[in-house]
Amino acid sequence: MRAVRFDRYGSSEVLKVRTIPVPGPGRNDVLVRVHASGLNPKDAIVRRGGLRLLTGRAFPRGTGYDFSGEVVAYGAGVSDLTHGDRVWGFLDGFLGGAAAEYAVVPRGWMSRMPPRLRWVEAAALPLVGATALQGLRDGARLGAGERVLIKGASGGVGSAAIQIAKALGAQVTALASGPGIDHCRGLGADRVVDYRRTAPEFLEDRFDVFLDCVGRSPYRVYRRLFARGGRWVTIAPEPVVYALTPISRLLAPVLGGPRLGYVAVKPRRADLEELGRLVEGGLLRMPVTAMYPLDEIGAAHDAVAGLHGRGKQVIVISPEALSERDAGNEAVEVP
Ligand SMILES: NC(=O)c1ccc[n+]([C@@H]2O[C@H](COP(=O)([O-])OP(=O)(O)OC[C@H]3O[C@@H](n4cnc5c(N)ncnc54)[C@H](OP(=O)(O)O)[C@@H]3O)[C@@H](O)[C@H]2O)c1
Repeated sequence: MRAVRFDRYGSSEVLKVRTIPVPGPGRNDVLVRVHASGLNPKDAIVRRGGLRLLTGRAFPRGTGYDFSGEVVAYGAGVSDLTHGDRVWGFLDGFLGGAAAEYAVVPRGWMSRMPPRLRWVEAAALPLVGATALQGLRDGARLGAGERVLIKGASGGVGSAAIQIAKALGAQVTALASGPGIDHCRGLGADRVVDYRRTAPEFLEDRFDVFLDCVGRSPYRVYRRLFARGGRWVTIAPEPVVYALTPISRLLAPVLGGPRLGYVAVKPRRADLEELGRLVEGGLLRMPVTAMYPLDEIGAAHDAVAGLHGRGKQVIVISPEALSERDAGNEAVEVP
């Protein structure tokens, strides 16, 4: 099979498409023929060695976490999927490997793909959709009628978060800039604030929940934006957030500041099924703003490295997914 591998940390030039043996599934694994693979900032961060304390020095490594694909084989412990089933999901941790023609994935990290999606659209949603769901529903316990502020709202996680917050019945204020402003409106945000024109200290509203998909949010500035009982959930935590999280749980009820929390997304079959229900109900979609063939993996990594993504960028791998791209696809917004 053709698969992306790299032998050392560095710029996107270290990425190579190699021909390697198709791996075999373990007892509770599924061998997926990958049609498309979503890109995430994590791909570029891991490749350049930004998490090397966690990722170590074992090479070669793969890249790519999200996948849409079909089942071609499975271990003896898998009884509810069969050859040809269409699945979507994402790989946990930092090993990557979905930017390849085949990937071995534990059964619990995937679910059946929502029938209304095509390969490219399906590869765009799992990781960011699950992050937004786990951040808003589990981390923030966002409820109907509450007001949520989303920073990084036009990016992959933010785009999913706007729609999931609306599905939970919340009032959504999105922080975005440039073309991201119309993008957020199109996804259902009640209000969009151009963060390049209005700094957060000048927002007069008060929020029940702040979902931070960017980081670099000074506590002394953002703490003023909360209503009593507010929750601040970040997916891009900084040391101060780690330090203050346990204290804030104790002090928030007394002093009135927000309760802090962070989310490290986990691939859970039940959450992927929940995302599928939202998709099938017409409540969730992910605009794909760029597509790359496997051979352009370097350019694809460079495109997500800057943390200014809008919607999602996808690697198109199989001939079927390539023909979706070539035929035009109304879910795919060509910039
Ligand atoms: N903890 C987890 O489990 C988890 C899971 C997924 C992702 N993440 C992390 O979450 C972050 C976002 O991921 P993503 O996939 O959504 O990235 P993305 O698609 O690149 O989106 C980044 C967004 O941040 C916005 N942004 C950049 N600088 C900003 C600023 N100073 N103020 C306000 N907005 C700003 C960008 O908008 P503009 O272009 O308008 O600036 C863009 O909408 C990354 O750091 C990623 O590694 C964590």
